[in-house]
Amino acid sequence: MANVLLGVTGSVAAMRTPVLFEALQNAGHSVKVVATSAATYFFDAAALRRQSLMPVGFSDQPECLRSLLFVDDDEWPGRADGEHYRRGDPVLHIELRKWADLLLIAPLDANTLAKLAVGLCDNCLTCIWRAWDSSRPVVLAPAMNTLMWQNPLTKRHLRSLAADAGAGHIPGHLADEALIQQINERSPTLRIVGPMIKTLACGDTGIGAMAEVTDIVAAVQTLLALLKAA
Ligand SMILES: Cc1cc2nc3c(=O)[nH]c(=O)nc-3n(C[C@H](O)[C@H](O)[C@H](O)COP(=O)(O)O)c2cc1C
Repeated sequence: MANVLLGVTGSVAAMRTPVLFEALQNAGHSVKVVATSAATYFFDAAALRRQSLMPVGFSDQPECLRSLLFVDDDEWPGRADGEHYRRGDPVLHIELRKWADLLLIAPLDANTLAKLAVGLCDNCLTCIWRAWDSSRPVVLAPAMNTLMWQNPLTKRHLRSLAADAGAGHIPGHLADEALIQQINERSPTLRIVGPMIKTLACGDTGIGAMAEVTDIVAAVQTLLALLKAA
């Protein structure tokens, strides 16, 4: 059992967040969700929040972590009411990073992928990424329109993430599948669960749909088992 932090970004595939959340819980993990502002358009965040009212297992956690779902406003408690940060107040993205044994971002949209690759950190999720302990595992499940996926920027960003995650230099000429395979074989801590071919929500048919929930959970399980055995 691990503490799995599920990052959710603004892809249509975020509609599957409740299913993915449940599948991770069924696999025995303690799960918390960090959603970007765009992501909350695609699933019922209030329903997950309602589950947070059940305090099971929360008693040993710092007060700021006693929820299942976090959005950007949670980083700035009281700001809307004119309150200010006081020395000693917890910093949510750091507390979440300390809590998490594994970071899963599913779906990972093109915008957040680009931010991860260059280190921009303008929301809770990207701050967690930027503050991440590089010895801890990360699983990414990209989802985007076919032409977004095929844009050379996608490959450039994935190669950059892979280099930072210890995969060394990945040649730029590789086709998508070979690229993902090399990243997954060479990085000790990073796994990419590649997108599928499907008729996408926008009506286009092609590569770009988020992988099946079962495949994403399997990648989490395999990586955790590998690191445990090491
Ligand atoms: C209906 C709709 C569906 C979208 N689906 C995707 C998608 O599947 N993948 C993607 O990369 N961007 C998608 N976008 C664009 C992102 O939501 C947009 O880039 C947003 O700024 C992402 O913000 P975030 O990365 O902070 O979540 C979609 C936008 C809309 C309005």
